[in-house]
Amino acid sequence: MPLTVQAILGHEAEARALRETLEALGYQHSGEAELTLELGPEGLALLRTDRRPPLRLRLDFAAGRQGYRLAHAGHQREGLIRAFGKLPRDSHVIDASAGIGRDTLLLAAHGFRVTAWERHPVVYRVLADALARASRTSELATIIERITLFEGPANPSQLEPLATAAVFDPMFPERAKRAAVKKDMQLIQALMPDVADPDADQTLATLRAGVERRVIVKRPLHAPAIGPDTPQASVKGKSVRFDLYPALQAP
Ligand SMILES: C[S@@+](CC[C@H](N)C(=O)[O-])C[C@H]1O[C@@H](n2cnc3c(N)ncnc32)[C@H](O)[C@@H]1O
Repeated sequence: MPLTVQAILGHEAEARALRETLEALGYQHSGEAELTLELGPEGLALLRTDRRPPLRLRLDFAAGRQGYRLAHAGHQREGLIRAFGKLPRDSHVIDASAGIGRDTLLLAAHGFRVTAWERHPVVYRVLADALARASRTSELATIIERITLFEGPANPSQLEPLATAAVFDPMFPERAKRAAVKKDMQLIQALMPDVADPDADQTLATLRAGVERRVIVKRPLHAPAIGPDTPQASVKGKSVRFDLYPALQAP
C-alpha cells in the first residue's frame, strides 16, 4: 500500500518537494495500512485513512498532555530523568530513537542539551516539522533551542567531545489491542510493519562505545532486556522500565 502526500490548498509546491524528497530517499511504505501525509498551513500530519474515523497524528508540543508535562517543572520525578543519575542540568545527552519526540522534549525541558536521531524518513519529517513550529512559540523556544535532530541512524561517535549519556527506546511489538498503545504510537507502528527494531542490540553496543558514562534502554515493564549483557540496574515505572548499561570506552 503506497503512502500518498496530499497538499491542503496553497501548499502544493511544498507537497511536491516532500514527495520528491521521499522518492529520492527511495522510501516506500510496505505495510498494509493506508497512509497519507497531509501538508497544510498547520504543518505536517500523518493520517491512517483505512480507519473510520481516520487516525490523525500532528504533533503539537505546546498542547495536551505533552505540553503540560513540559510546562510544569517536576521533571526530576520522571523515571527517565532519574535513570540519567545525578548529571549537571546542562549535560549533553543523546536520544538515539527520537520517534515522536516525547522523550527528546522531556530531556530538553529538564535542561539537558540533546542530540537526537531518527532514521525513519516519515517519522523524522513529522517530528522535524513539529520542532520547527514549537521553536516559534514563546513557551517552548528555549527548550527547542537545546535540541539538535539528525536524520539517520544514531551515530554517537560523530560527536566531539562525546555525549555524557544516551537513551535508546527501540520499537517493541506491543499487543495491538492494548489500550496502552496510544493512538500516536499506533500510527508510528503502522509505518513500520515489522514493529520492532531488529538491530537494537547493535545500536546498544554502538551507544555504549560512544558515550562517556551510561546508556539507558527504555523497555515495556515486562519485556526482556536487549543485548548480550545483563543491565547494571533498572529504574521501574508504572508501565516502562529503564535498563542501565555502563559505557564501554575503548582503552
Ligand atoms: C519506540 S519509538 C521511540 C519513541 C520515542 N522515545 C518518543 O518518546 O517518542 C522508536 C523509534 O526509534 C527509531 N530508531 C530505532 N533505532 C534507531 C537507530 N539506531 N537510529 C535512529 N533511529 C532509530 C525508530 O525509527 C522509531 O521511530
